[in-house]
Amino acid sequence: MHLHTKAYLKSIKIYKKINNIKNASYNTNMYELYPYFTNDGSVGLFSPDADDIYHSTYGALTEAYEKFILPADFEKYFSNHNKIKILDICFGIGYNTKSFLNYFYEKIFCKNDIAKNNYIETIDTNNNTYNATLDTDNKNSKNLDHEHLDSEKLSTENDNSNLKPEIYIKAIDTDKTLAFLSPFIVTGKRFWRREKIKFQQEKIEKMLKKNSAPKIWINDEINIILLLKIIENHPEILEDTEITRLLASSKYSRYFSGYMRRYFAFKKTKICKYTPLKLLSAYLHNIYYRYISKRQKKALNALKLLDFNFDLKIDDARKVLLTDNNIYNFVFLDAFTPAKCPCLWTVDFLRLLYSHLDVDGMILTYSNAANIRSAFLEAGFYVGKIYNAQAGKFTGTIAVKNKSLIKNELSEYDLGLLKTKAGIFYRDENLTGLNEAIVAAHKKEVETSTRISSSKFIKQWKKNIVVKTIGR
Ligand SMILES: C[S@@+](CC[C@H](N)C(=O)[O-])C[C@H]1O[C@@H](n2cnc3c(N)ncnc32)[C@H](O)[C@@H]1O
Repeated sequence: MHLHTKAYLKSIKIYKKINNIKNASYNTNMYELYPYFTNDGSVGLFSPDADDIYHSTYGALTEAYEKFILPADFEKYFSNHNKIKILDICFGIGYNTKSFLNYFYEKIFCKNDIAKNNYIETIDTNNNTYNATLDTDNKNSKNLDHEHLDSEKLSTENDNSNLKPEIYIKAIDTDKTLAFLSPFIVTGKRFWRREKIKFQQEKIEKMLKKNSAPKIWINDEINIILLLKIIENHPEILEDTEITRLLASSKYSRYFSGYMRRYFAFKKTKICKYTPLKLLSAYLHNIYYRYISKRQKKALNALKLLDFNFDLKIDDARKVLLTDNNIYNFVFLDAFTPAKCPCLWTVDFLRLLYSHLDVDGMILTYSNAANIRSAFLEAGFYVGKIYNAQAGKFTGTIAVKNKSLIKNELSEYDLGLLKTKAGIFYRDENLTGLNEAIVAAHKKEVETSTRISSSKFIKQWKKNIVVKTIGR
């Protein structure tokens, strides 16, 4: 998911070296993870299959915020919209969706009247109806038990629907296991600090900046909600032996939230025939959760997020979108680098995205590549750059239909690059091509092209600047 910068290639090399991935004799029948803690304390993954990292070593969660969430300016969006449709292409372990929900929860949901209202929830538990106010200080409030976390049991008596924005998120990934694991991933360096890395500690720590500090993390409430949504979408997760094995493996335990694992175990016991032991475990969990609920008013507020629509599709994004009728306000395009996963960067796929984007919608991606920008332009979009003021550099690309949404236009230099060989985009006319075939056809097109190379263009550009400077 990153440009092949020197730093990026180096981090892949170091990661492979420290984990001895080249010689790794992993069982091909069993799903293996290659996790590590990135600079901001969030978990990053490596994929030996794609020979690519899923997340930047500089911070998986920070990257989601900086490249997708902040440039989208959701605060401004919600100041005059009450509905949102988001398409998360390449959901992976869900950083982009989770970051959106977390941002929405903290910056929008908790700040407006929706959360401040102590309105009544009606919870039907074992055929009894209880009224419980969300104000935990209210003496008349009844204790909530674990059932209040079940979306199917939660209904709002007061109709605040005019206040609460309608959220629809479609998330797509080919990797079911990763998507199912998404609510369990720990975030926040506080965890990393507490559980020092035992796994190749010395070398991994060399990759991490010493002075990095956790600025953001995903609230537990968001993970609970996401898990409930995944169970709703894919109840088979409760029986998935691979998920159970991975969550139970001591090898990965520091990367998964203990709290979420316990909650999942509890959800699983609910679908089994209760043995006395399971009944006891459910009862204990119930007490545990009741304690947490009473303590965390925030968690109770977050429950109202439960009625957002989440549609997780485990399939090729091209296939899913060919039969999808939604028009999206925001699209997060977070595929592996174009050279590894060209099928999601072709001009034909971007044309498909064009047909799914609202007139005032925005596609956000981390890629700065010339051939991705030229493909967006060819597909009919206006193209701009994502500027990270803190880092003082451009960190991605946006594509829109409404030009006024662009804050940072492509420069003369950027536009010049698009006309070089580096600007030749990938093609996949029928949207069914294999990555290898798309790469091979692209390579041939570049080789036979009469365009100048990007290196020659850059040299000429620098020379012109020198000439212009001297001429002044
Ligand atoms: C860079 S990772 C995405 C990281 C992710 N956004 C996260 O927060 O973890 C790329 C993802 O693309 C998925 N992928 C690869 N080819 C795909 C395809 N044709 N359609 C949908 N997903 C695909 C991979 O399974 C992988 O999870």
